[in-house]
Amino acid sequence: MARLTVNNQPVEYKLDPDTPLLWALRDASNLTGAKYGCGTGECGACIVDIDGRAVAACTVPIGRIEGSYVTTIEGLSRERNHPLQLAFIAANLPQCGFCIPGIIMAAQALLRRTPDPGEEAIEAALPNICRCGVYPRLIEAVQRAGRALRGEETIPAGARPGIDPADAARAVPALVPPPSR
Ligand code: FES
Ligand code: FES
Repeated sequence: MARLTVNNQPVEYKLDPDTPLLWALRDASNLTGAKYGCGTGECGACIVDIDGRAVAACTVPIGRIEGSYVTTIEGLSRERNHPLQLAFIAANLPQCGFCIPGIIMAAQALLRRTPDPGEEAIEAALPNICRCGVYPRLIEAVQRAGRALRGEETIPAGARPGIDPADAARAVPALVPPPSR
């Protein structure tokens, strides 16, 4: 069992204290933004914020963080318009998107302690692995989000990621099999 605060909600996990936080979040809280990649703390897909630090949730047993405040990508911004999210969308950064929640949670922790990070600081703070290779645009997107957080720039809201319901509805007829002759 472990008592935590997750995305500002008190949570009591009636799970083995050795359960990795990632499984508690995904399976018990249905917070599936943090992803399972390697399970060994290498890839960064599962990074969440624990008490202001970016931590790989796959490596942390819930019993070891009793009383902590955990923020996941779902709790970062109710409107999904944190400057990092806006900057990533504006740069067309997300490709398959699997790594993006972990990258954003690592980046937000960096920007809170280092509001104007240079390239080296960003690379050091974001060890995340991206199989789609978003790295070339990543540095600038994080720096742009930093400028927005410092009030030096406004990032216009772009189209929300995901399939527009109207487009999904239009695609349905193509799935209907042709009439039999
Ligand atoms: Fe946690 Fe890869 S799944 S670091
Ligand atoms: Fe696909 Fe990073 S966007 S893994």
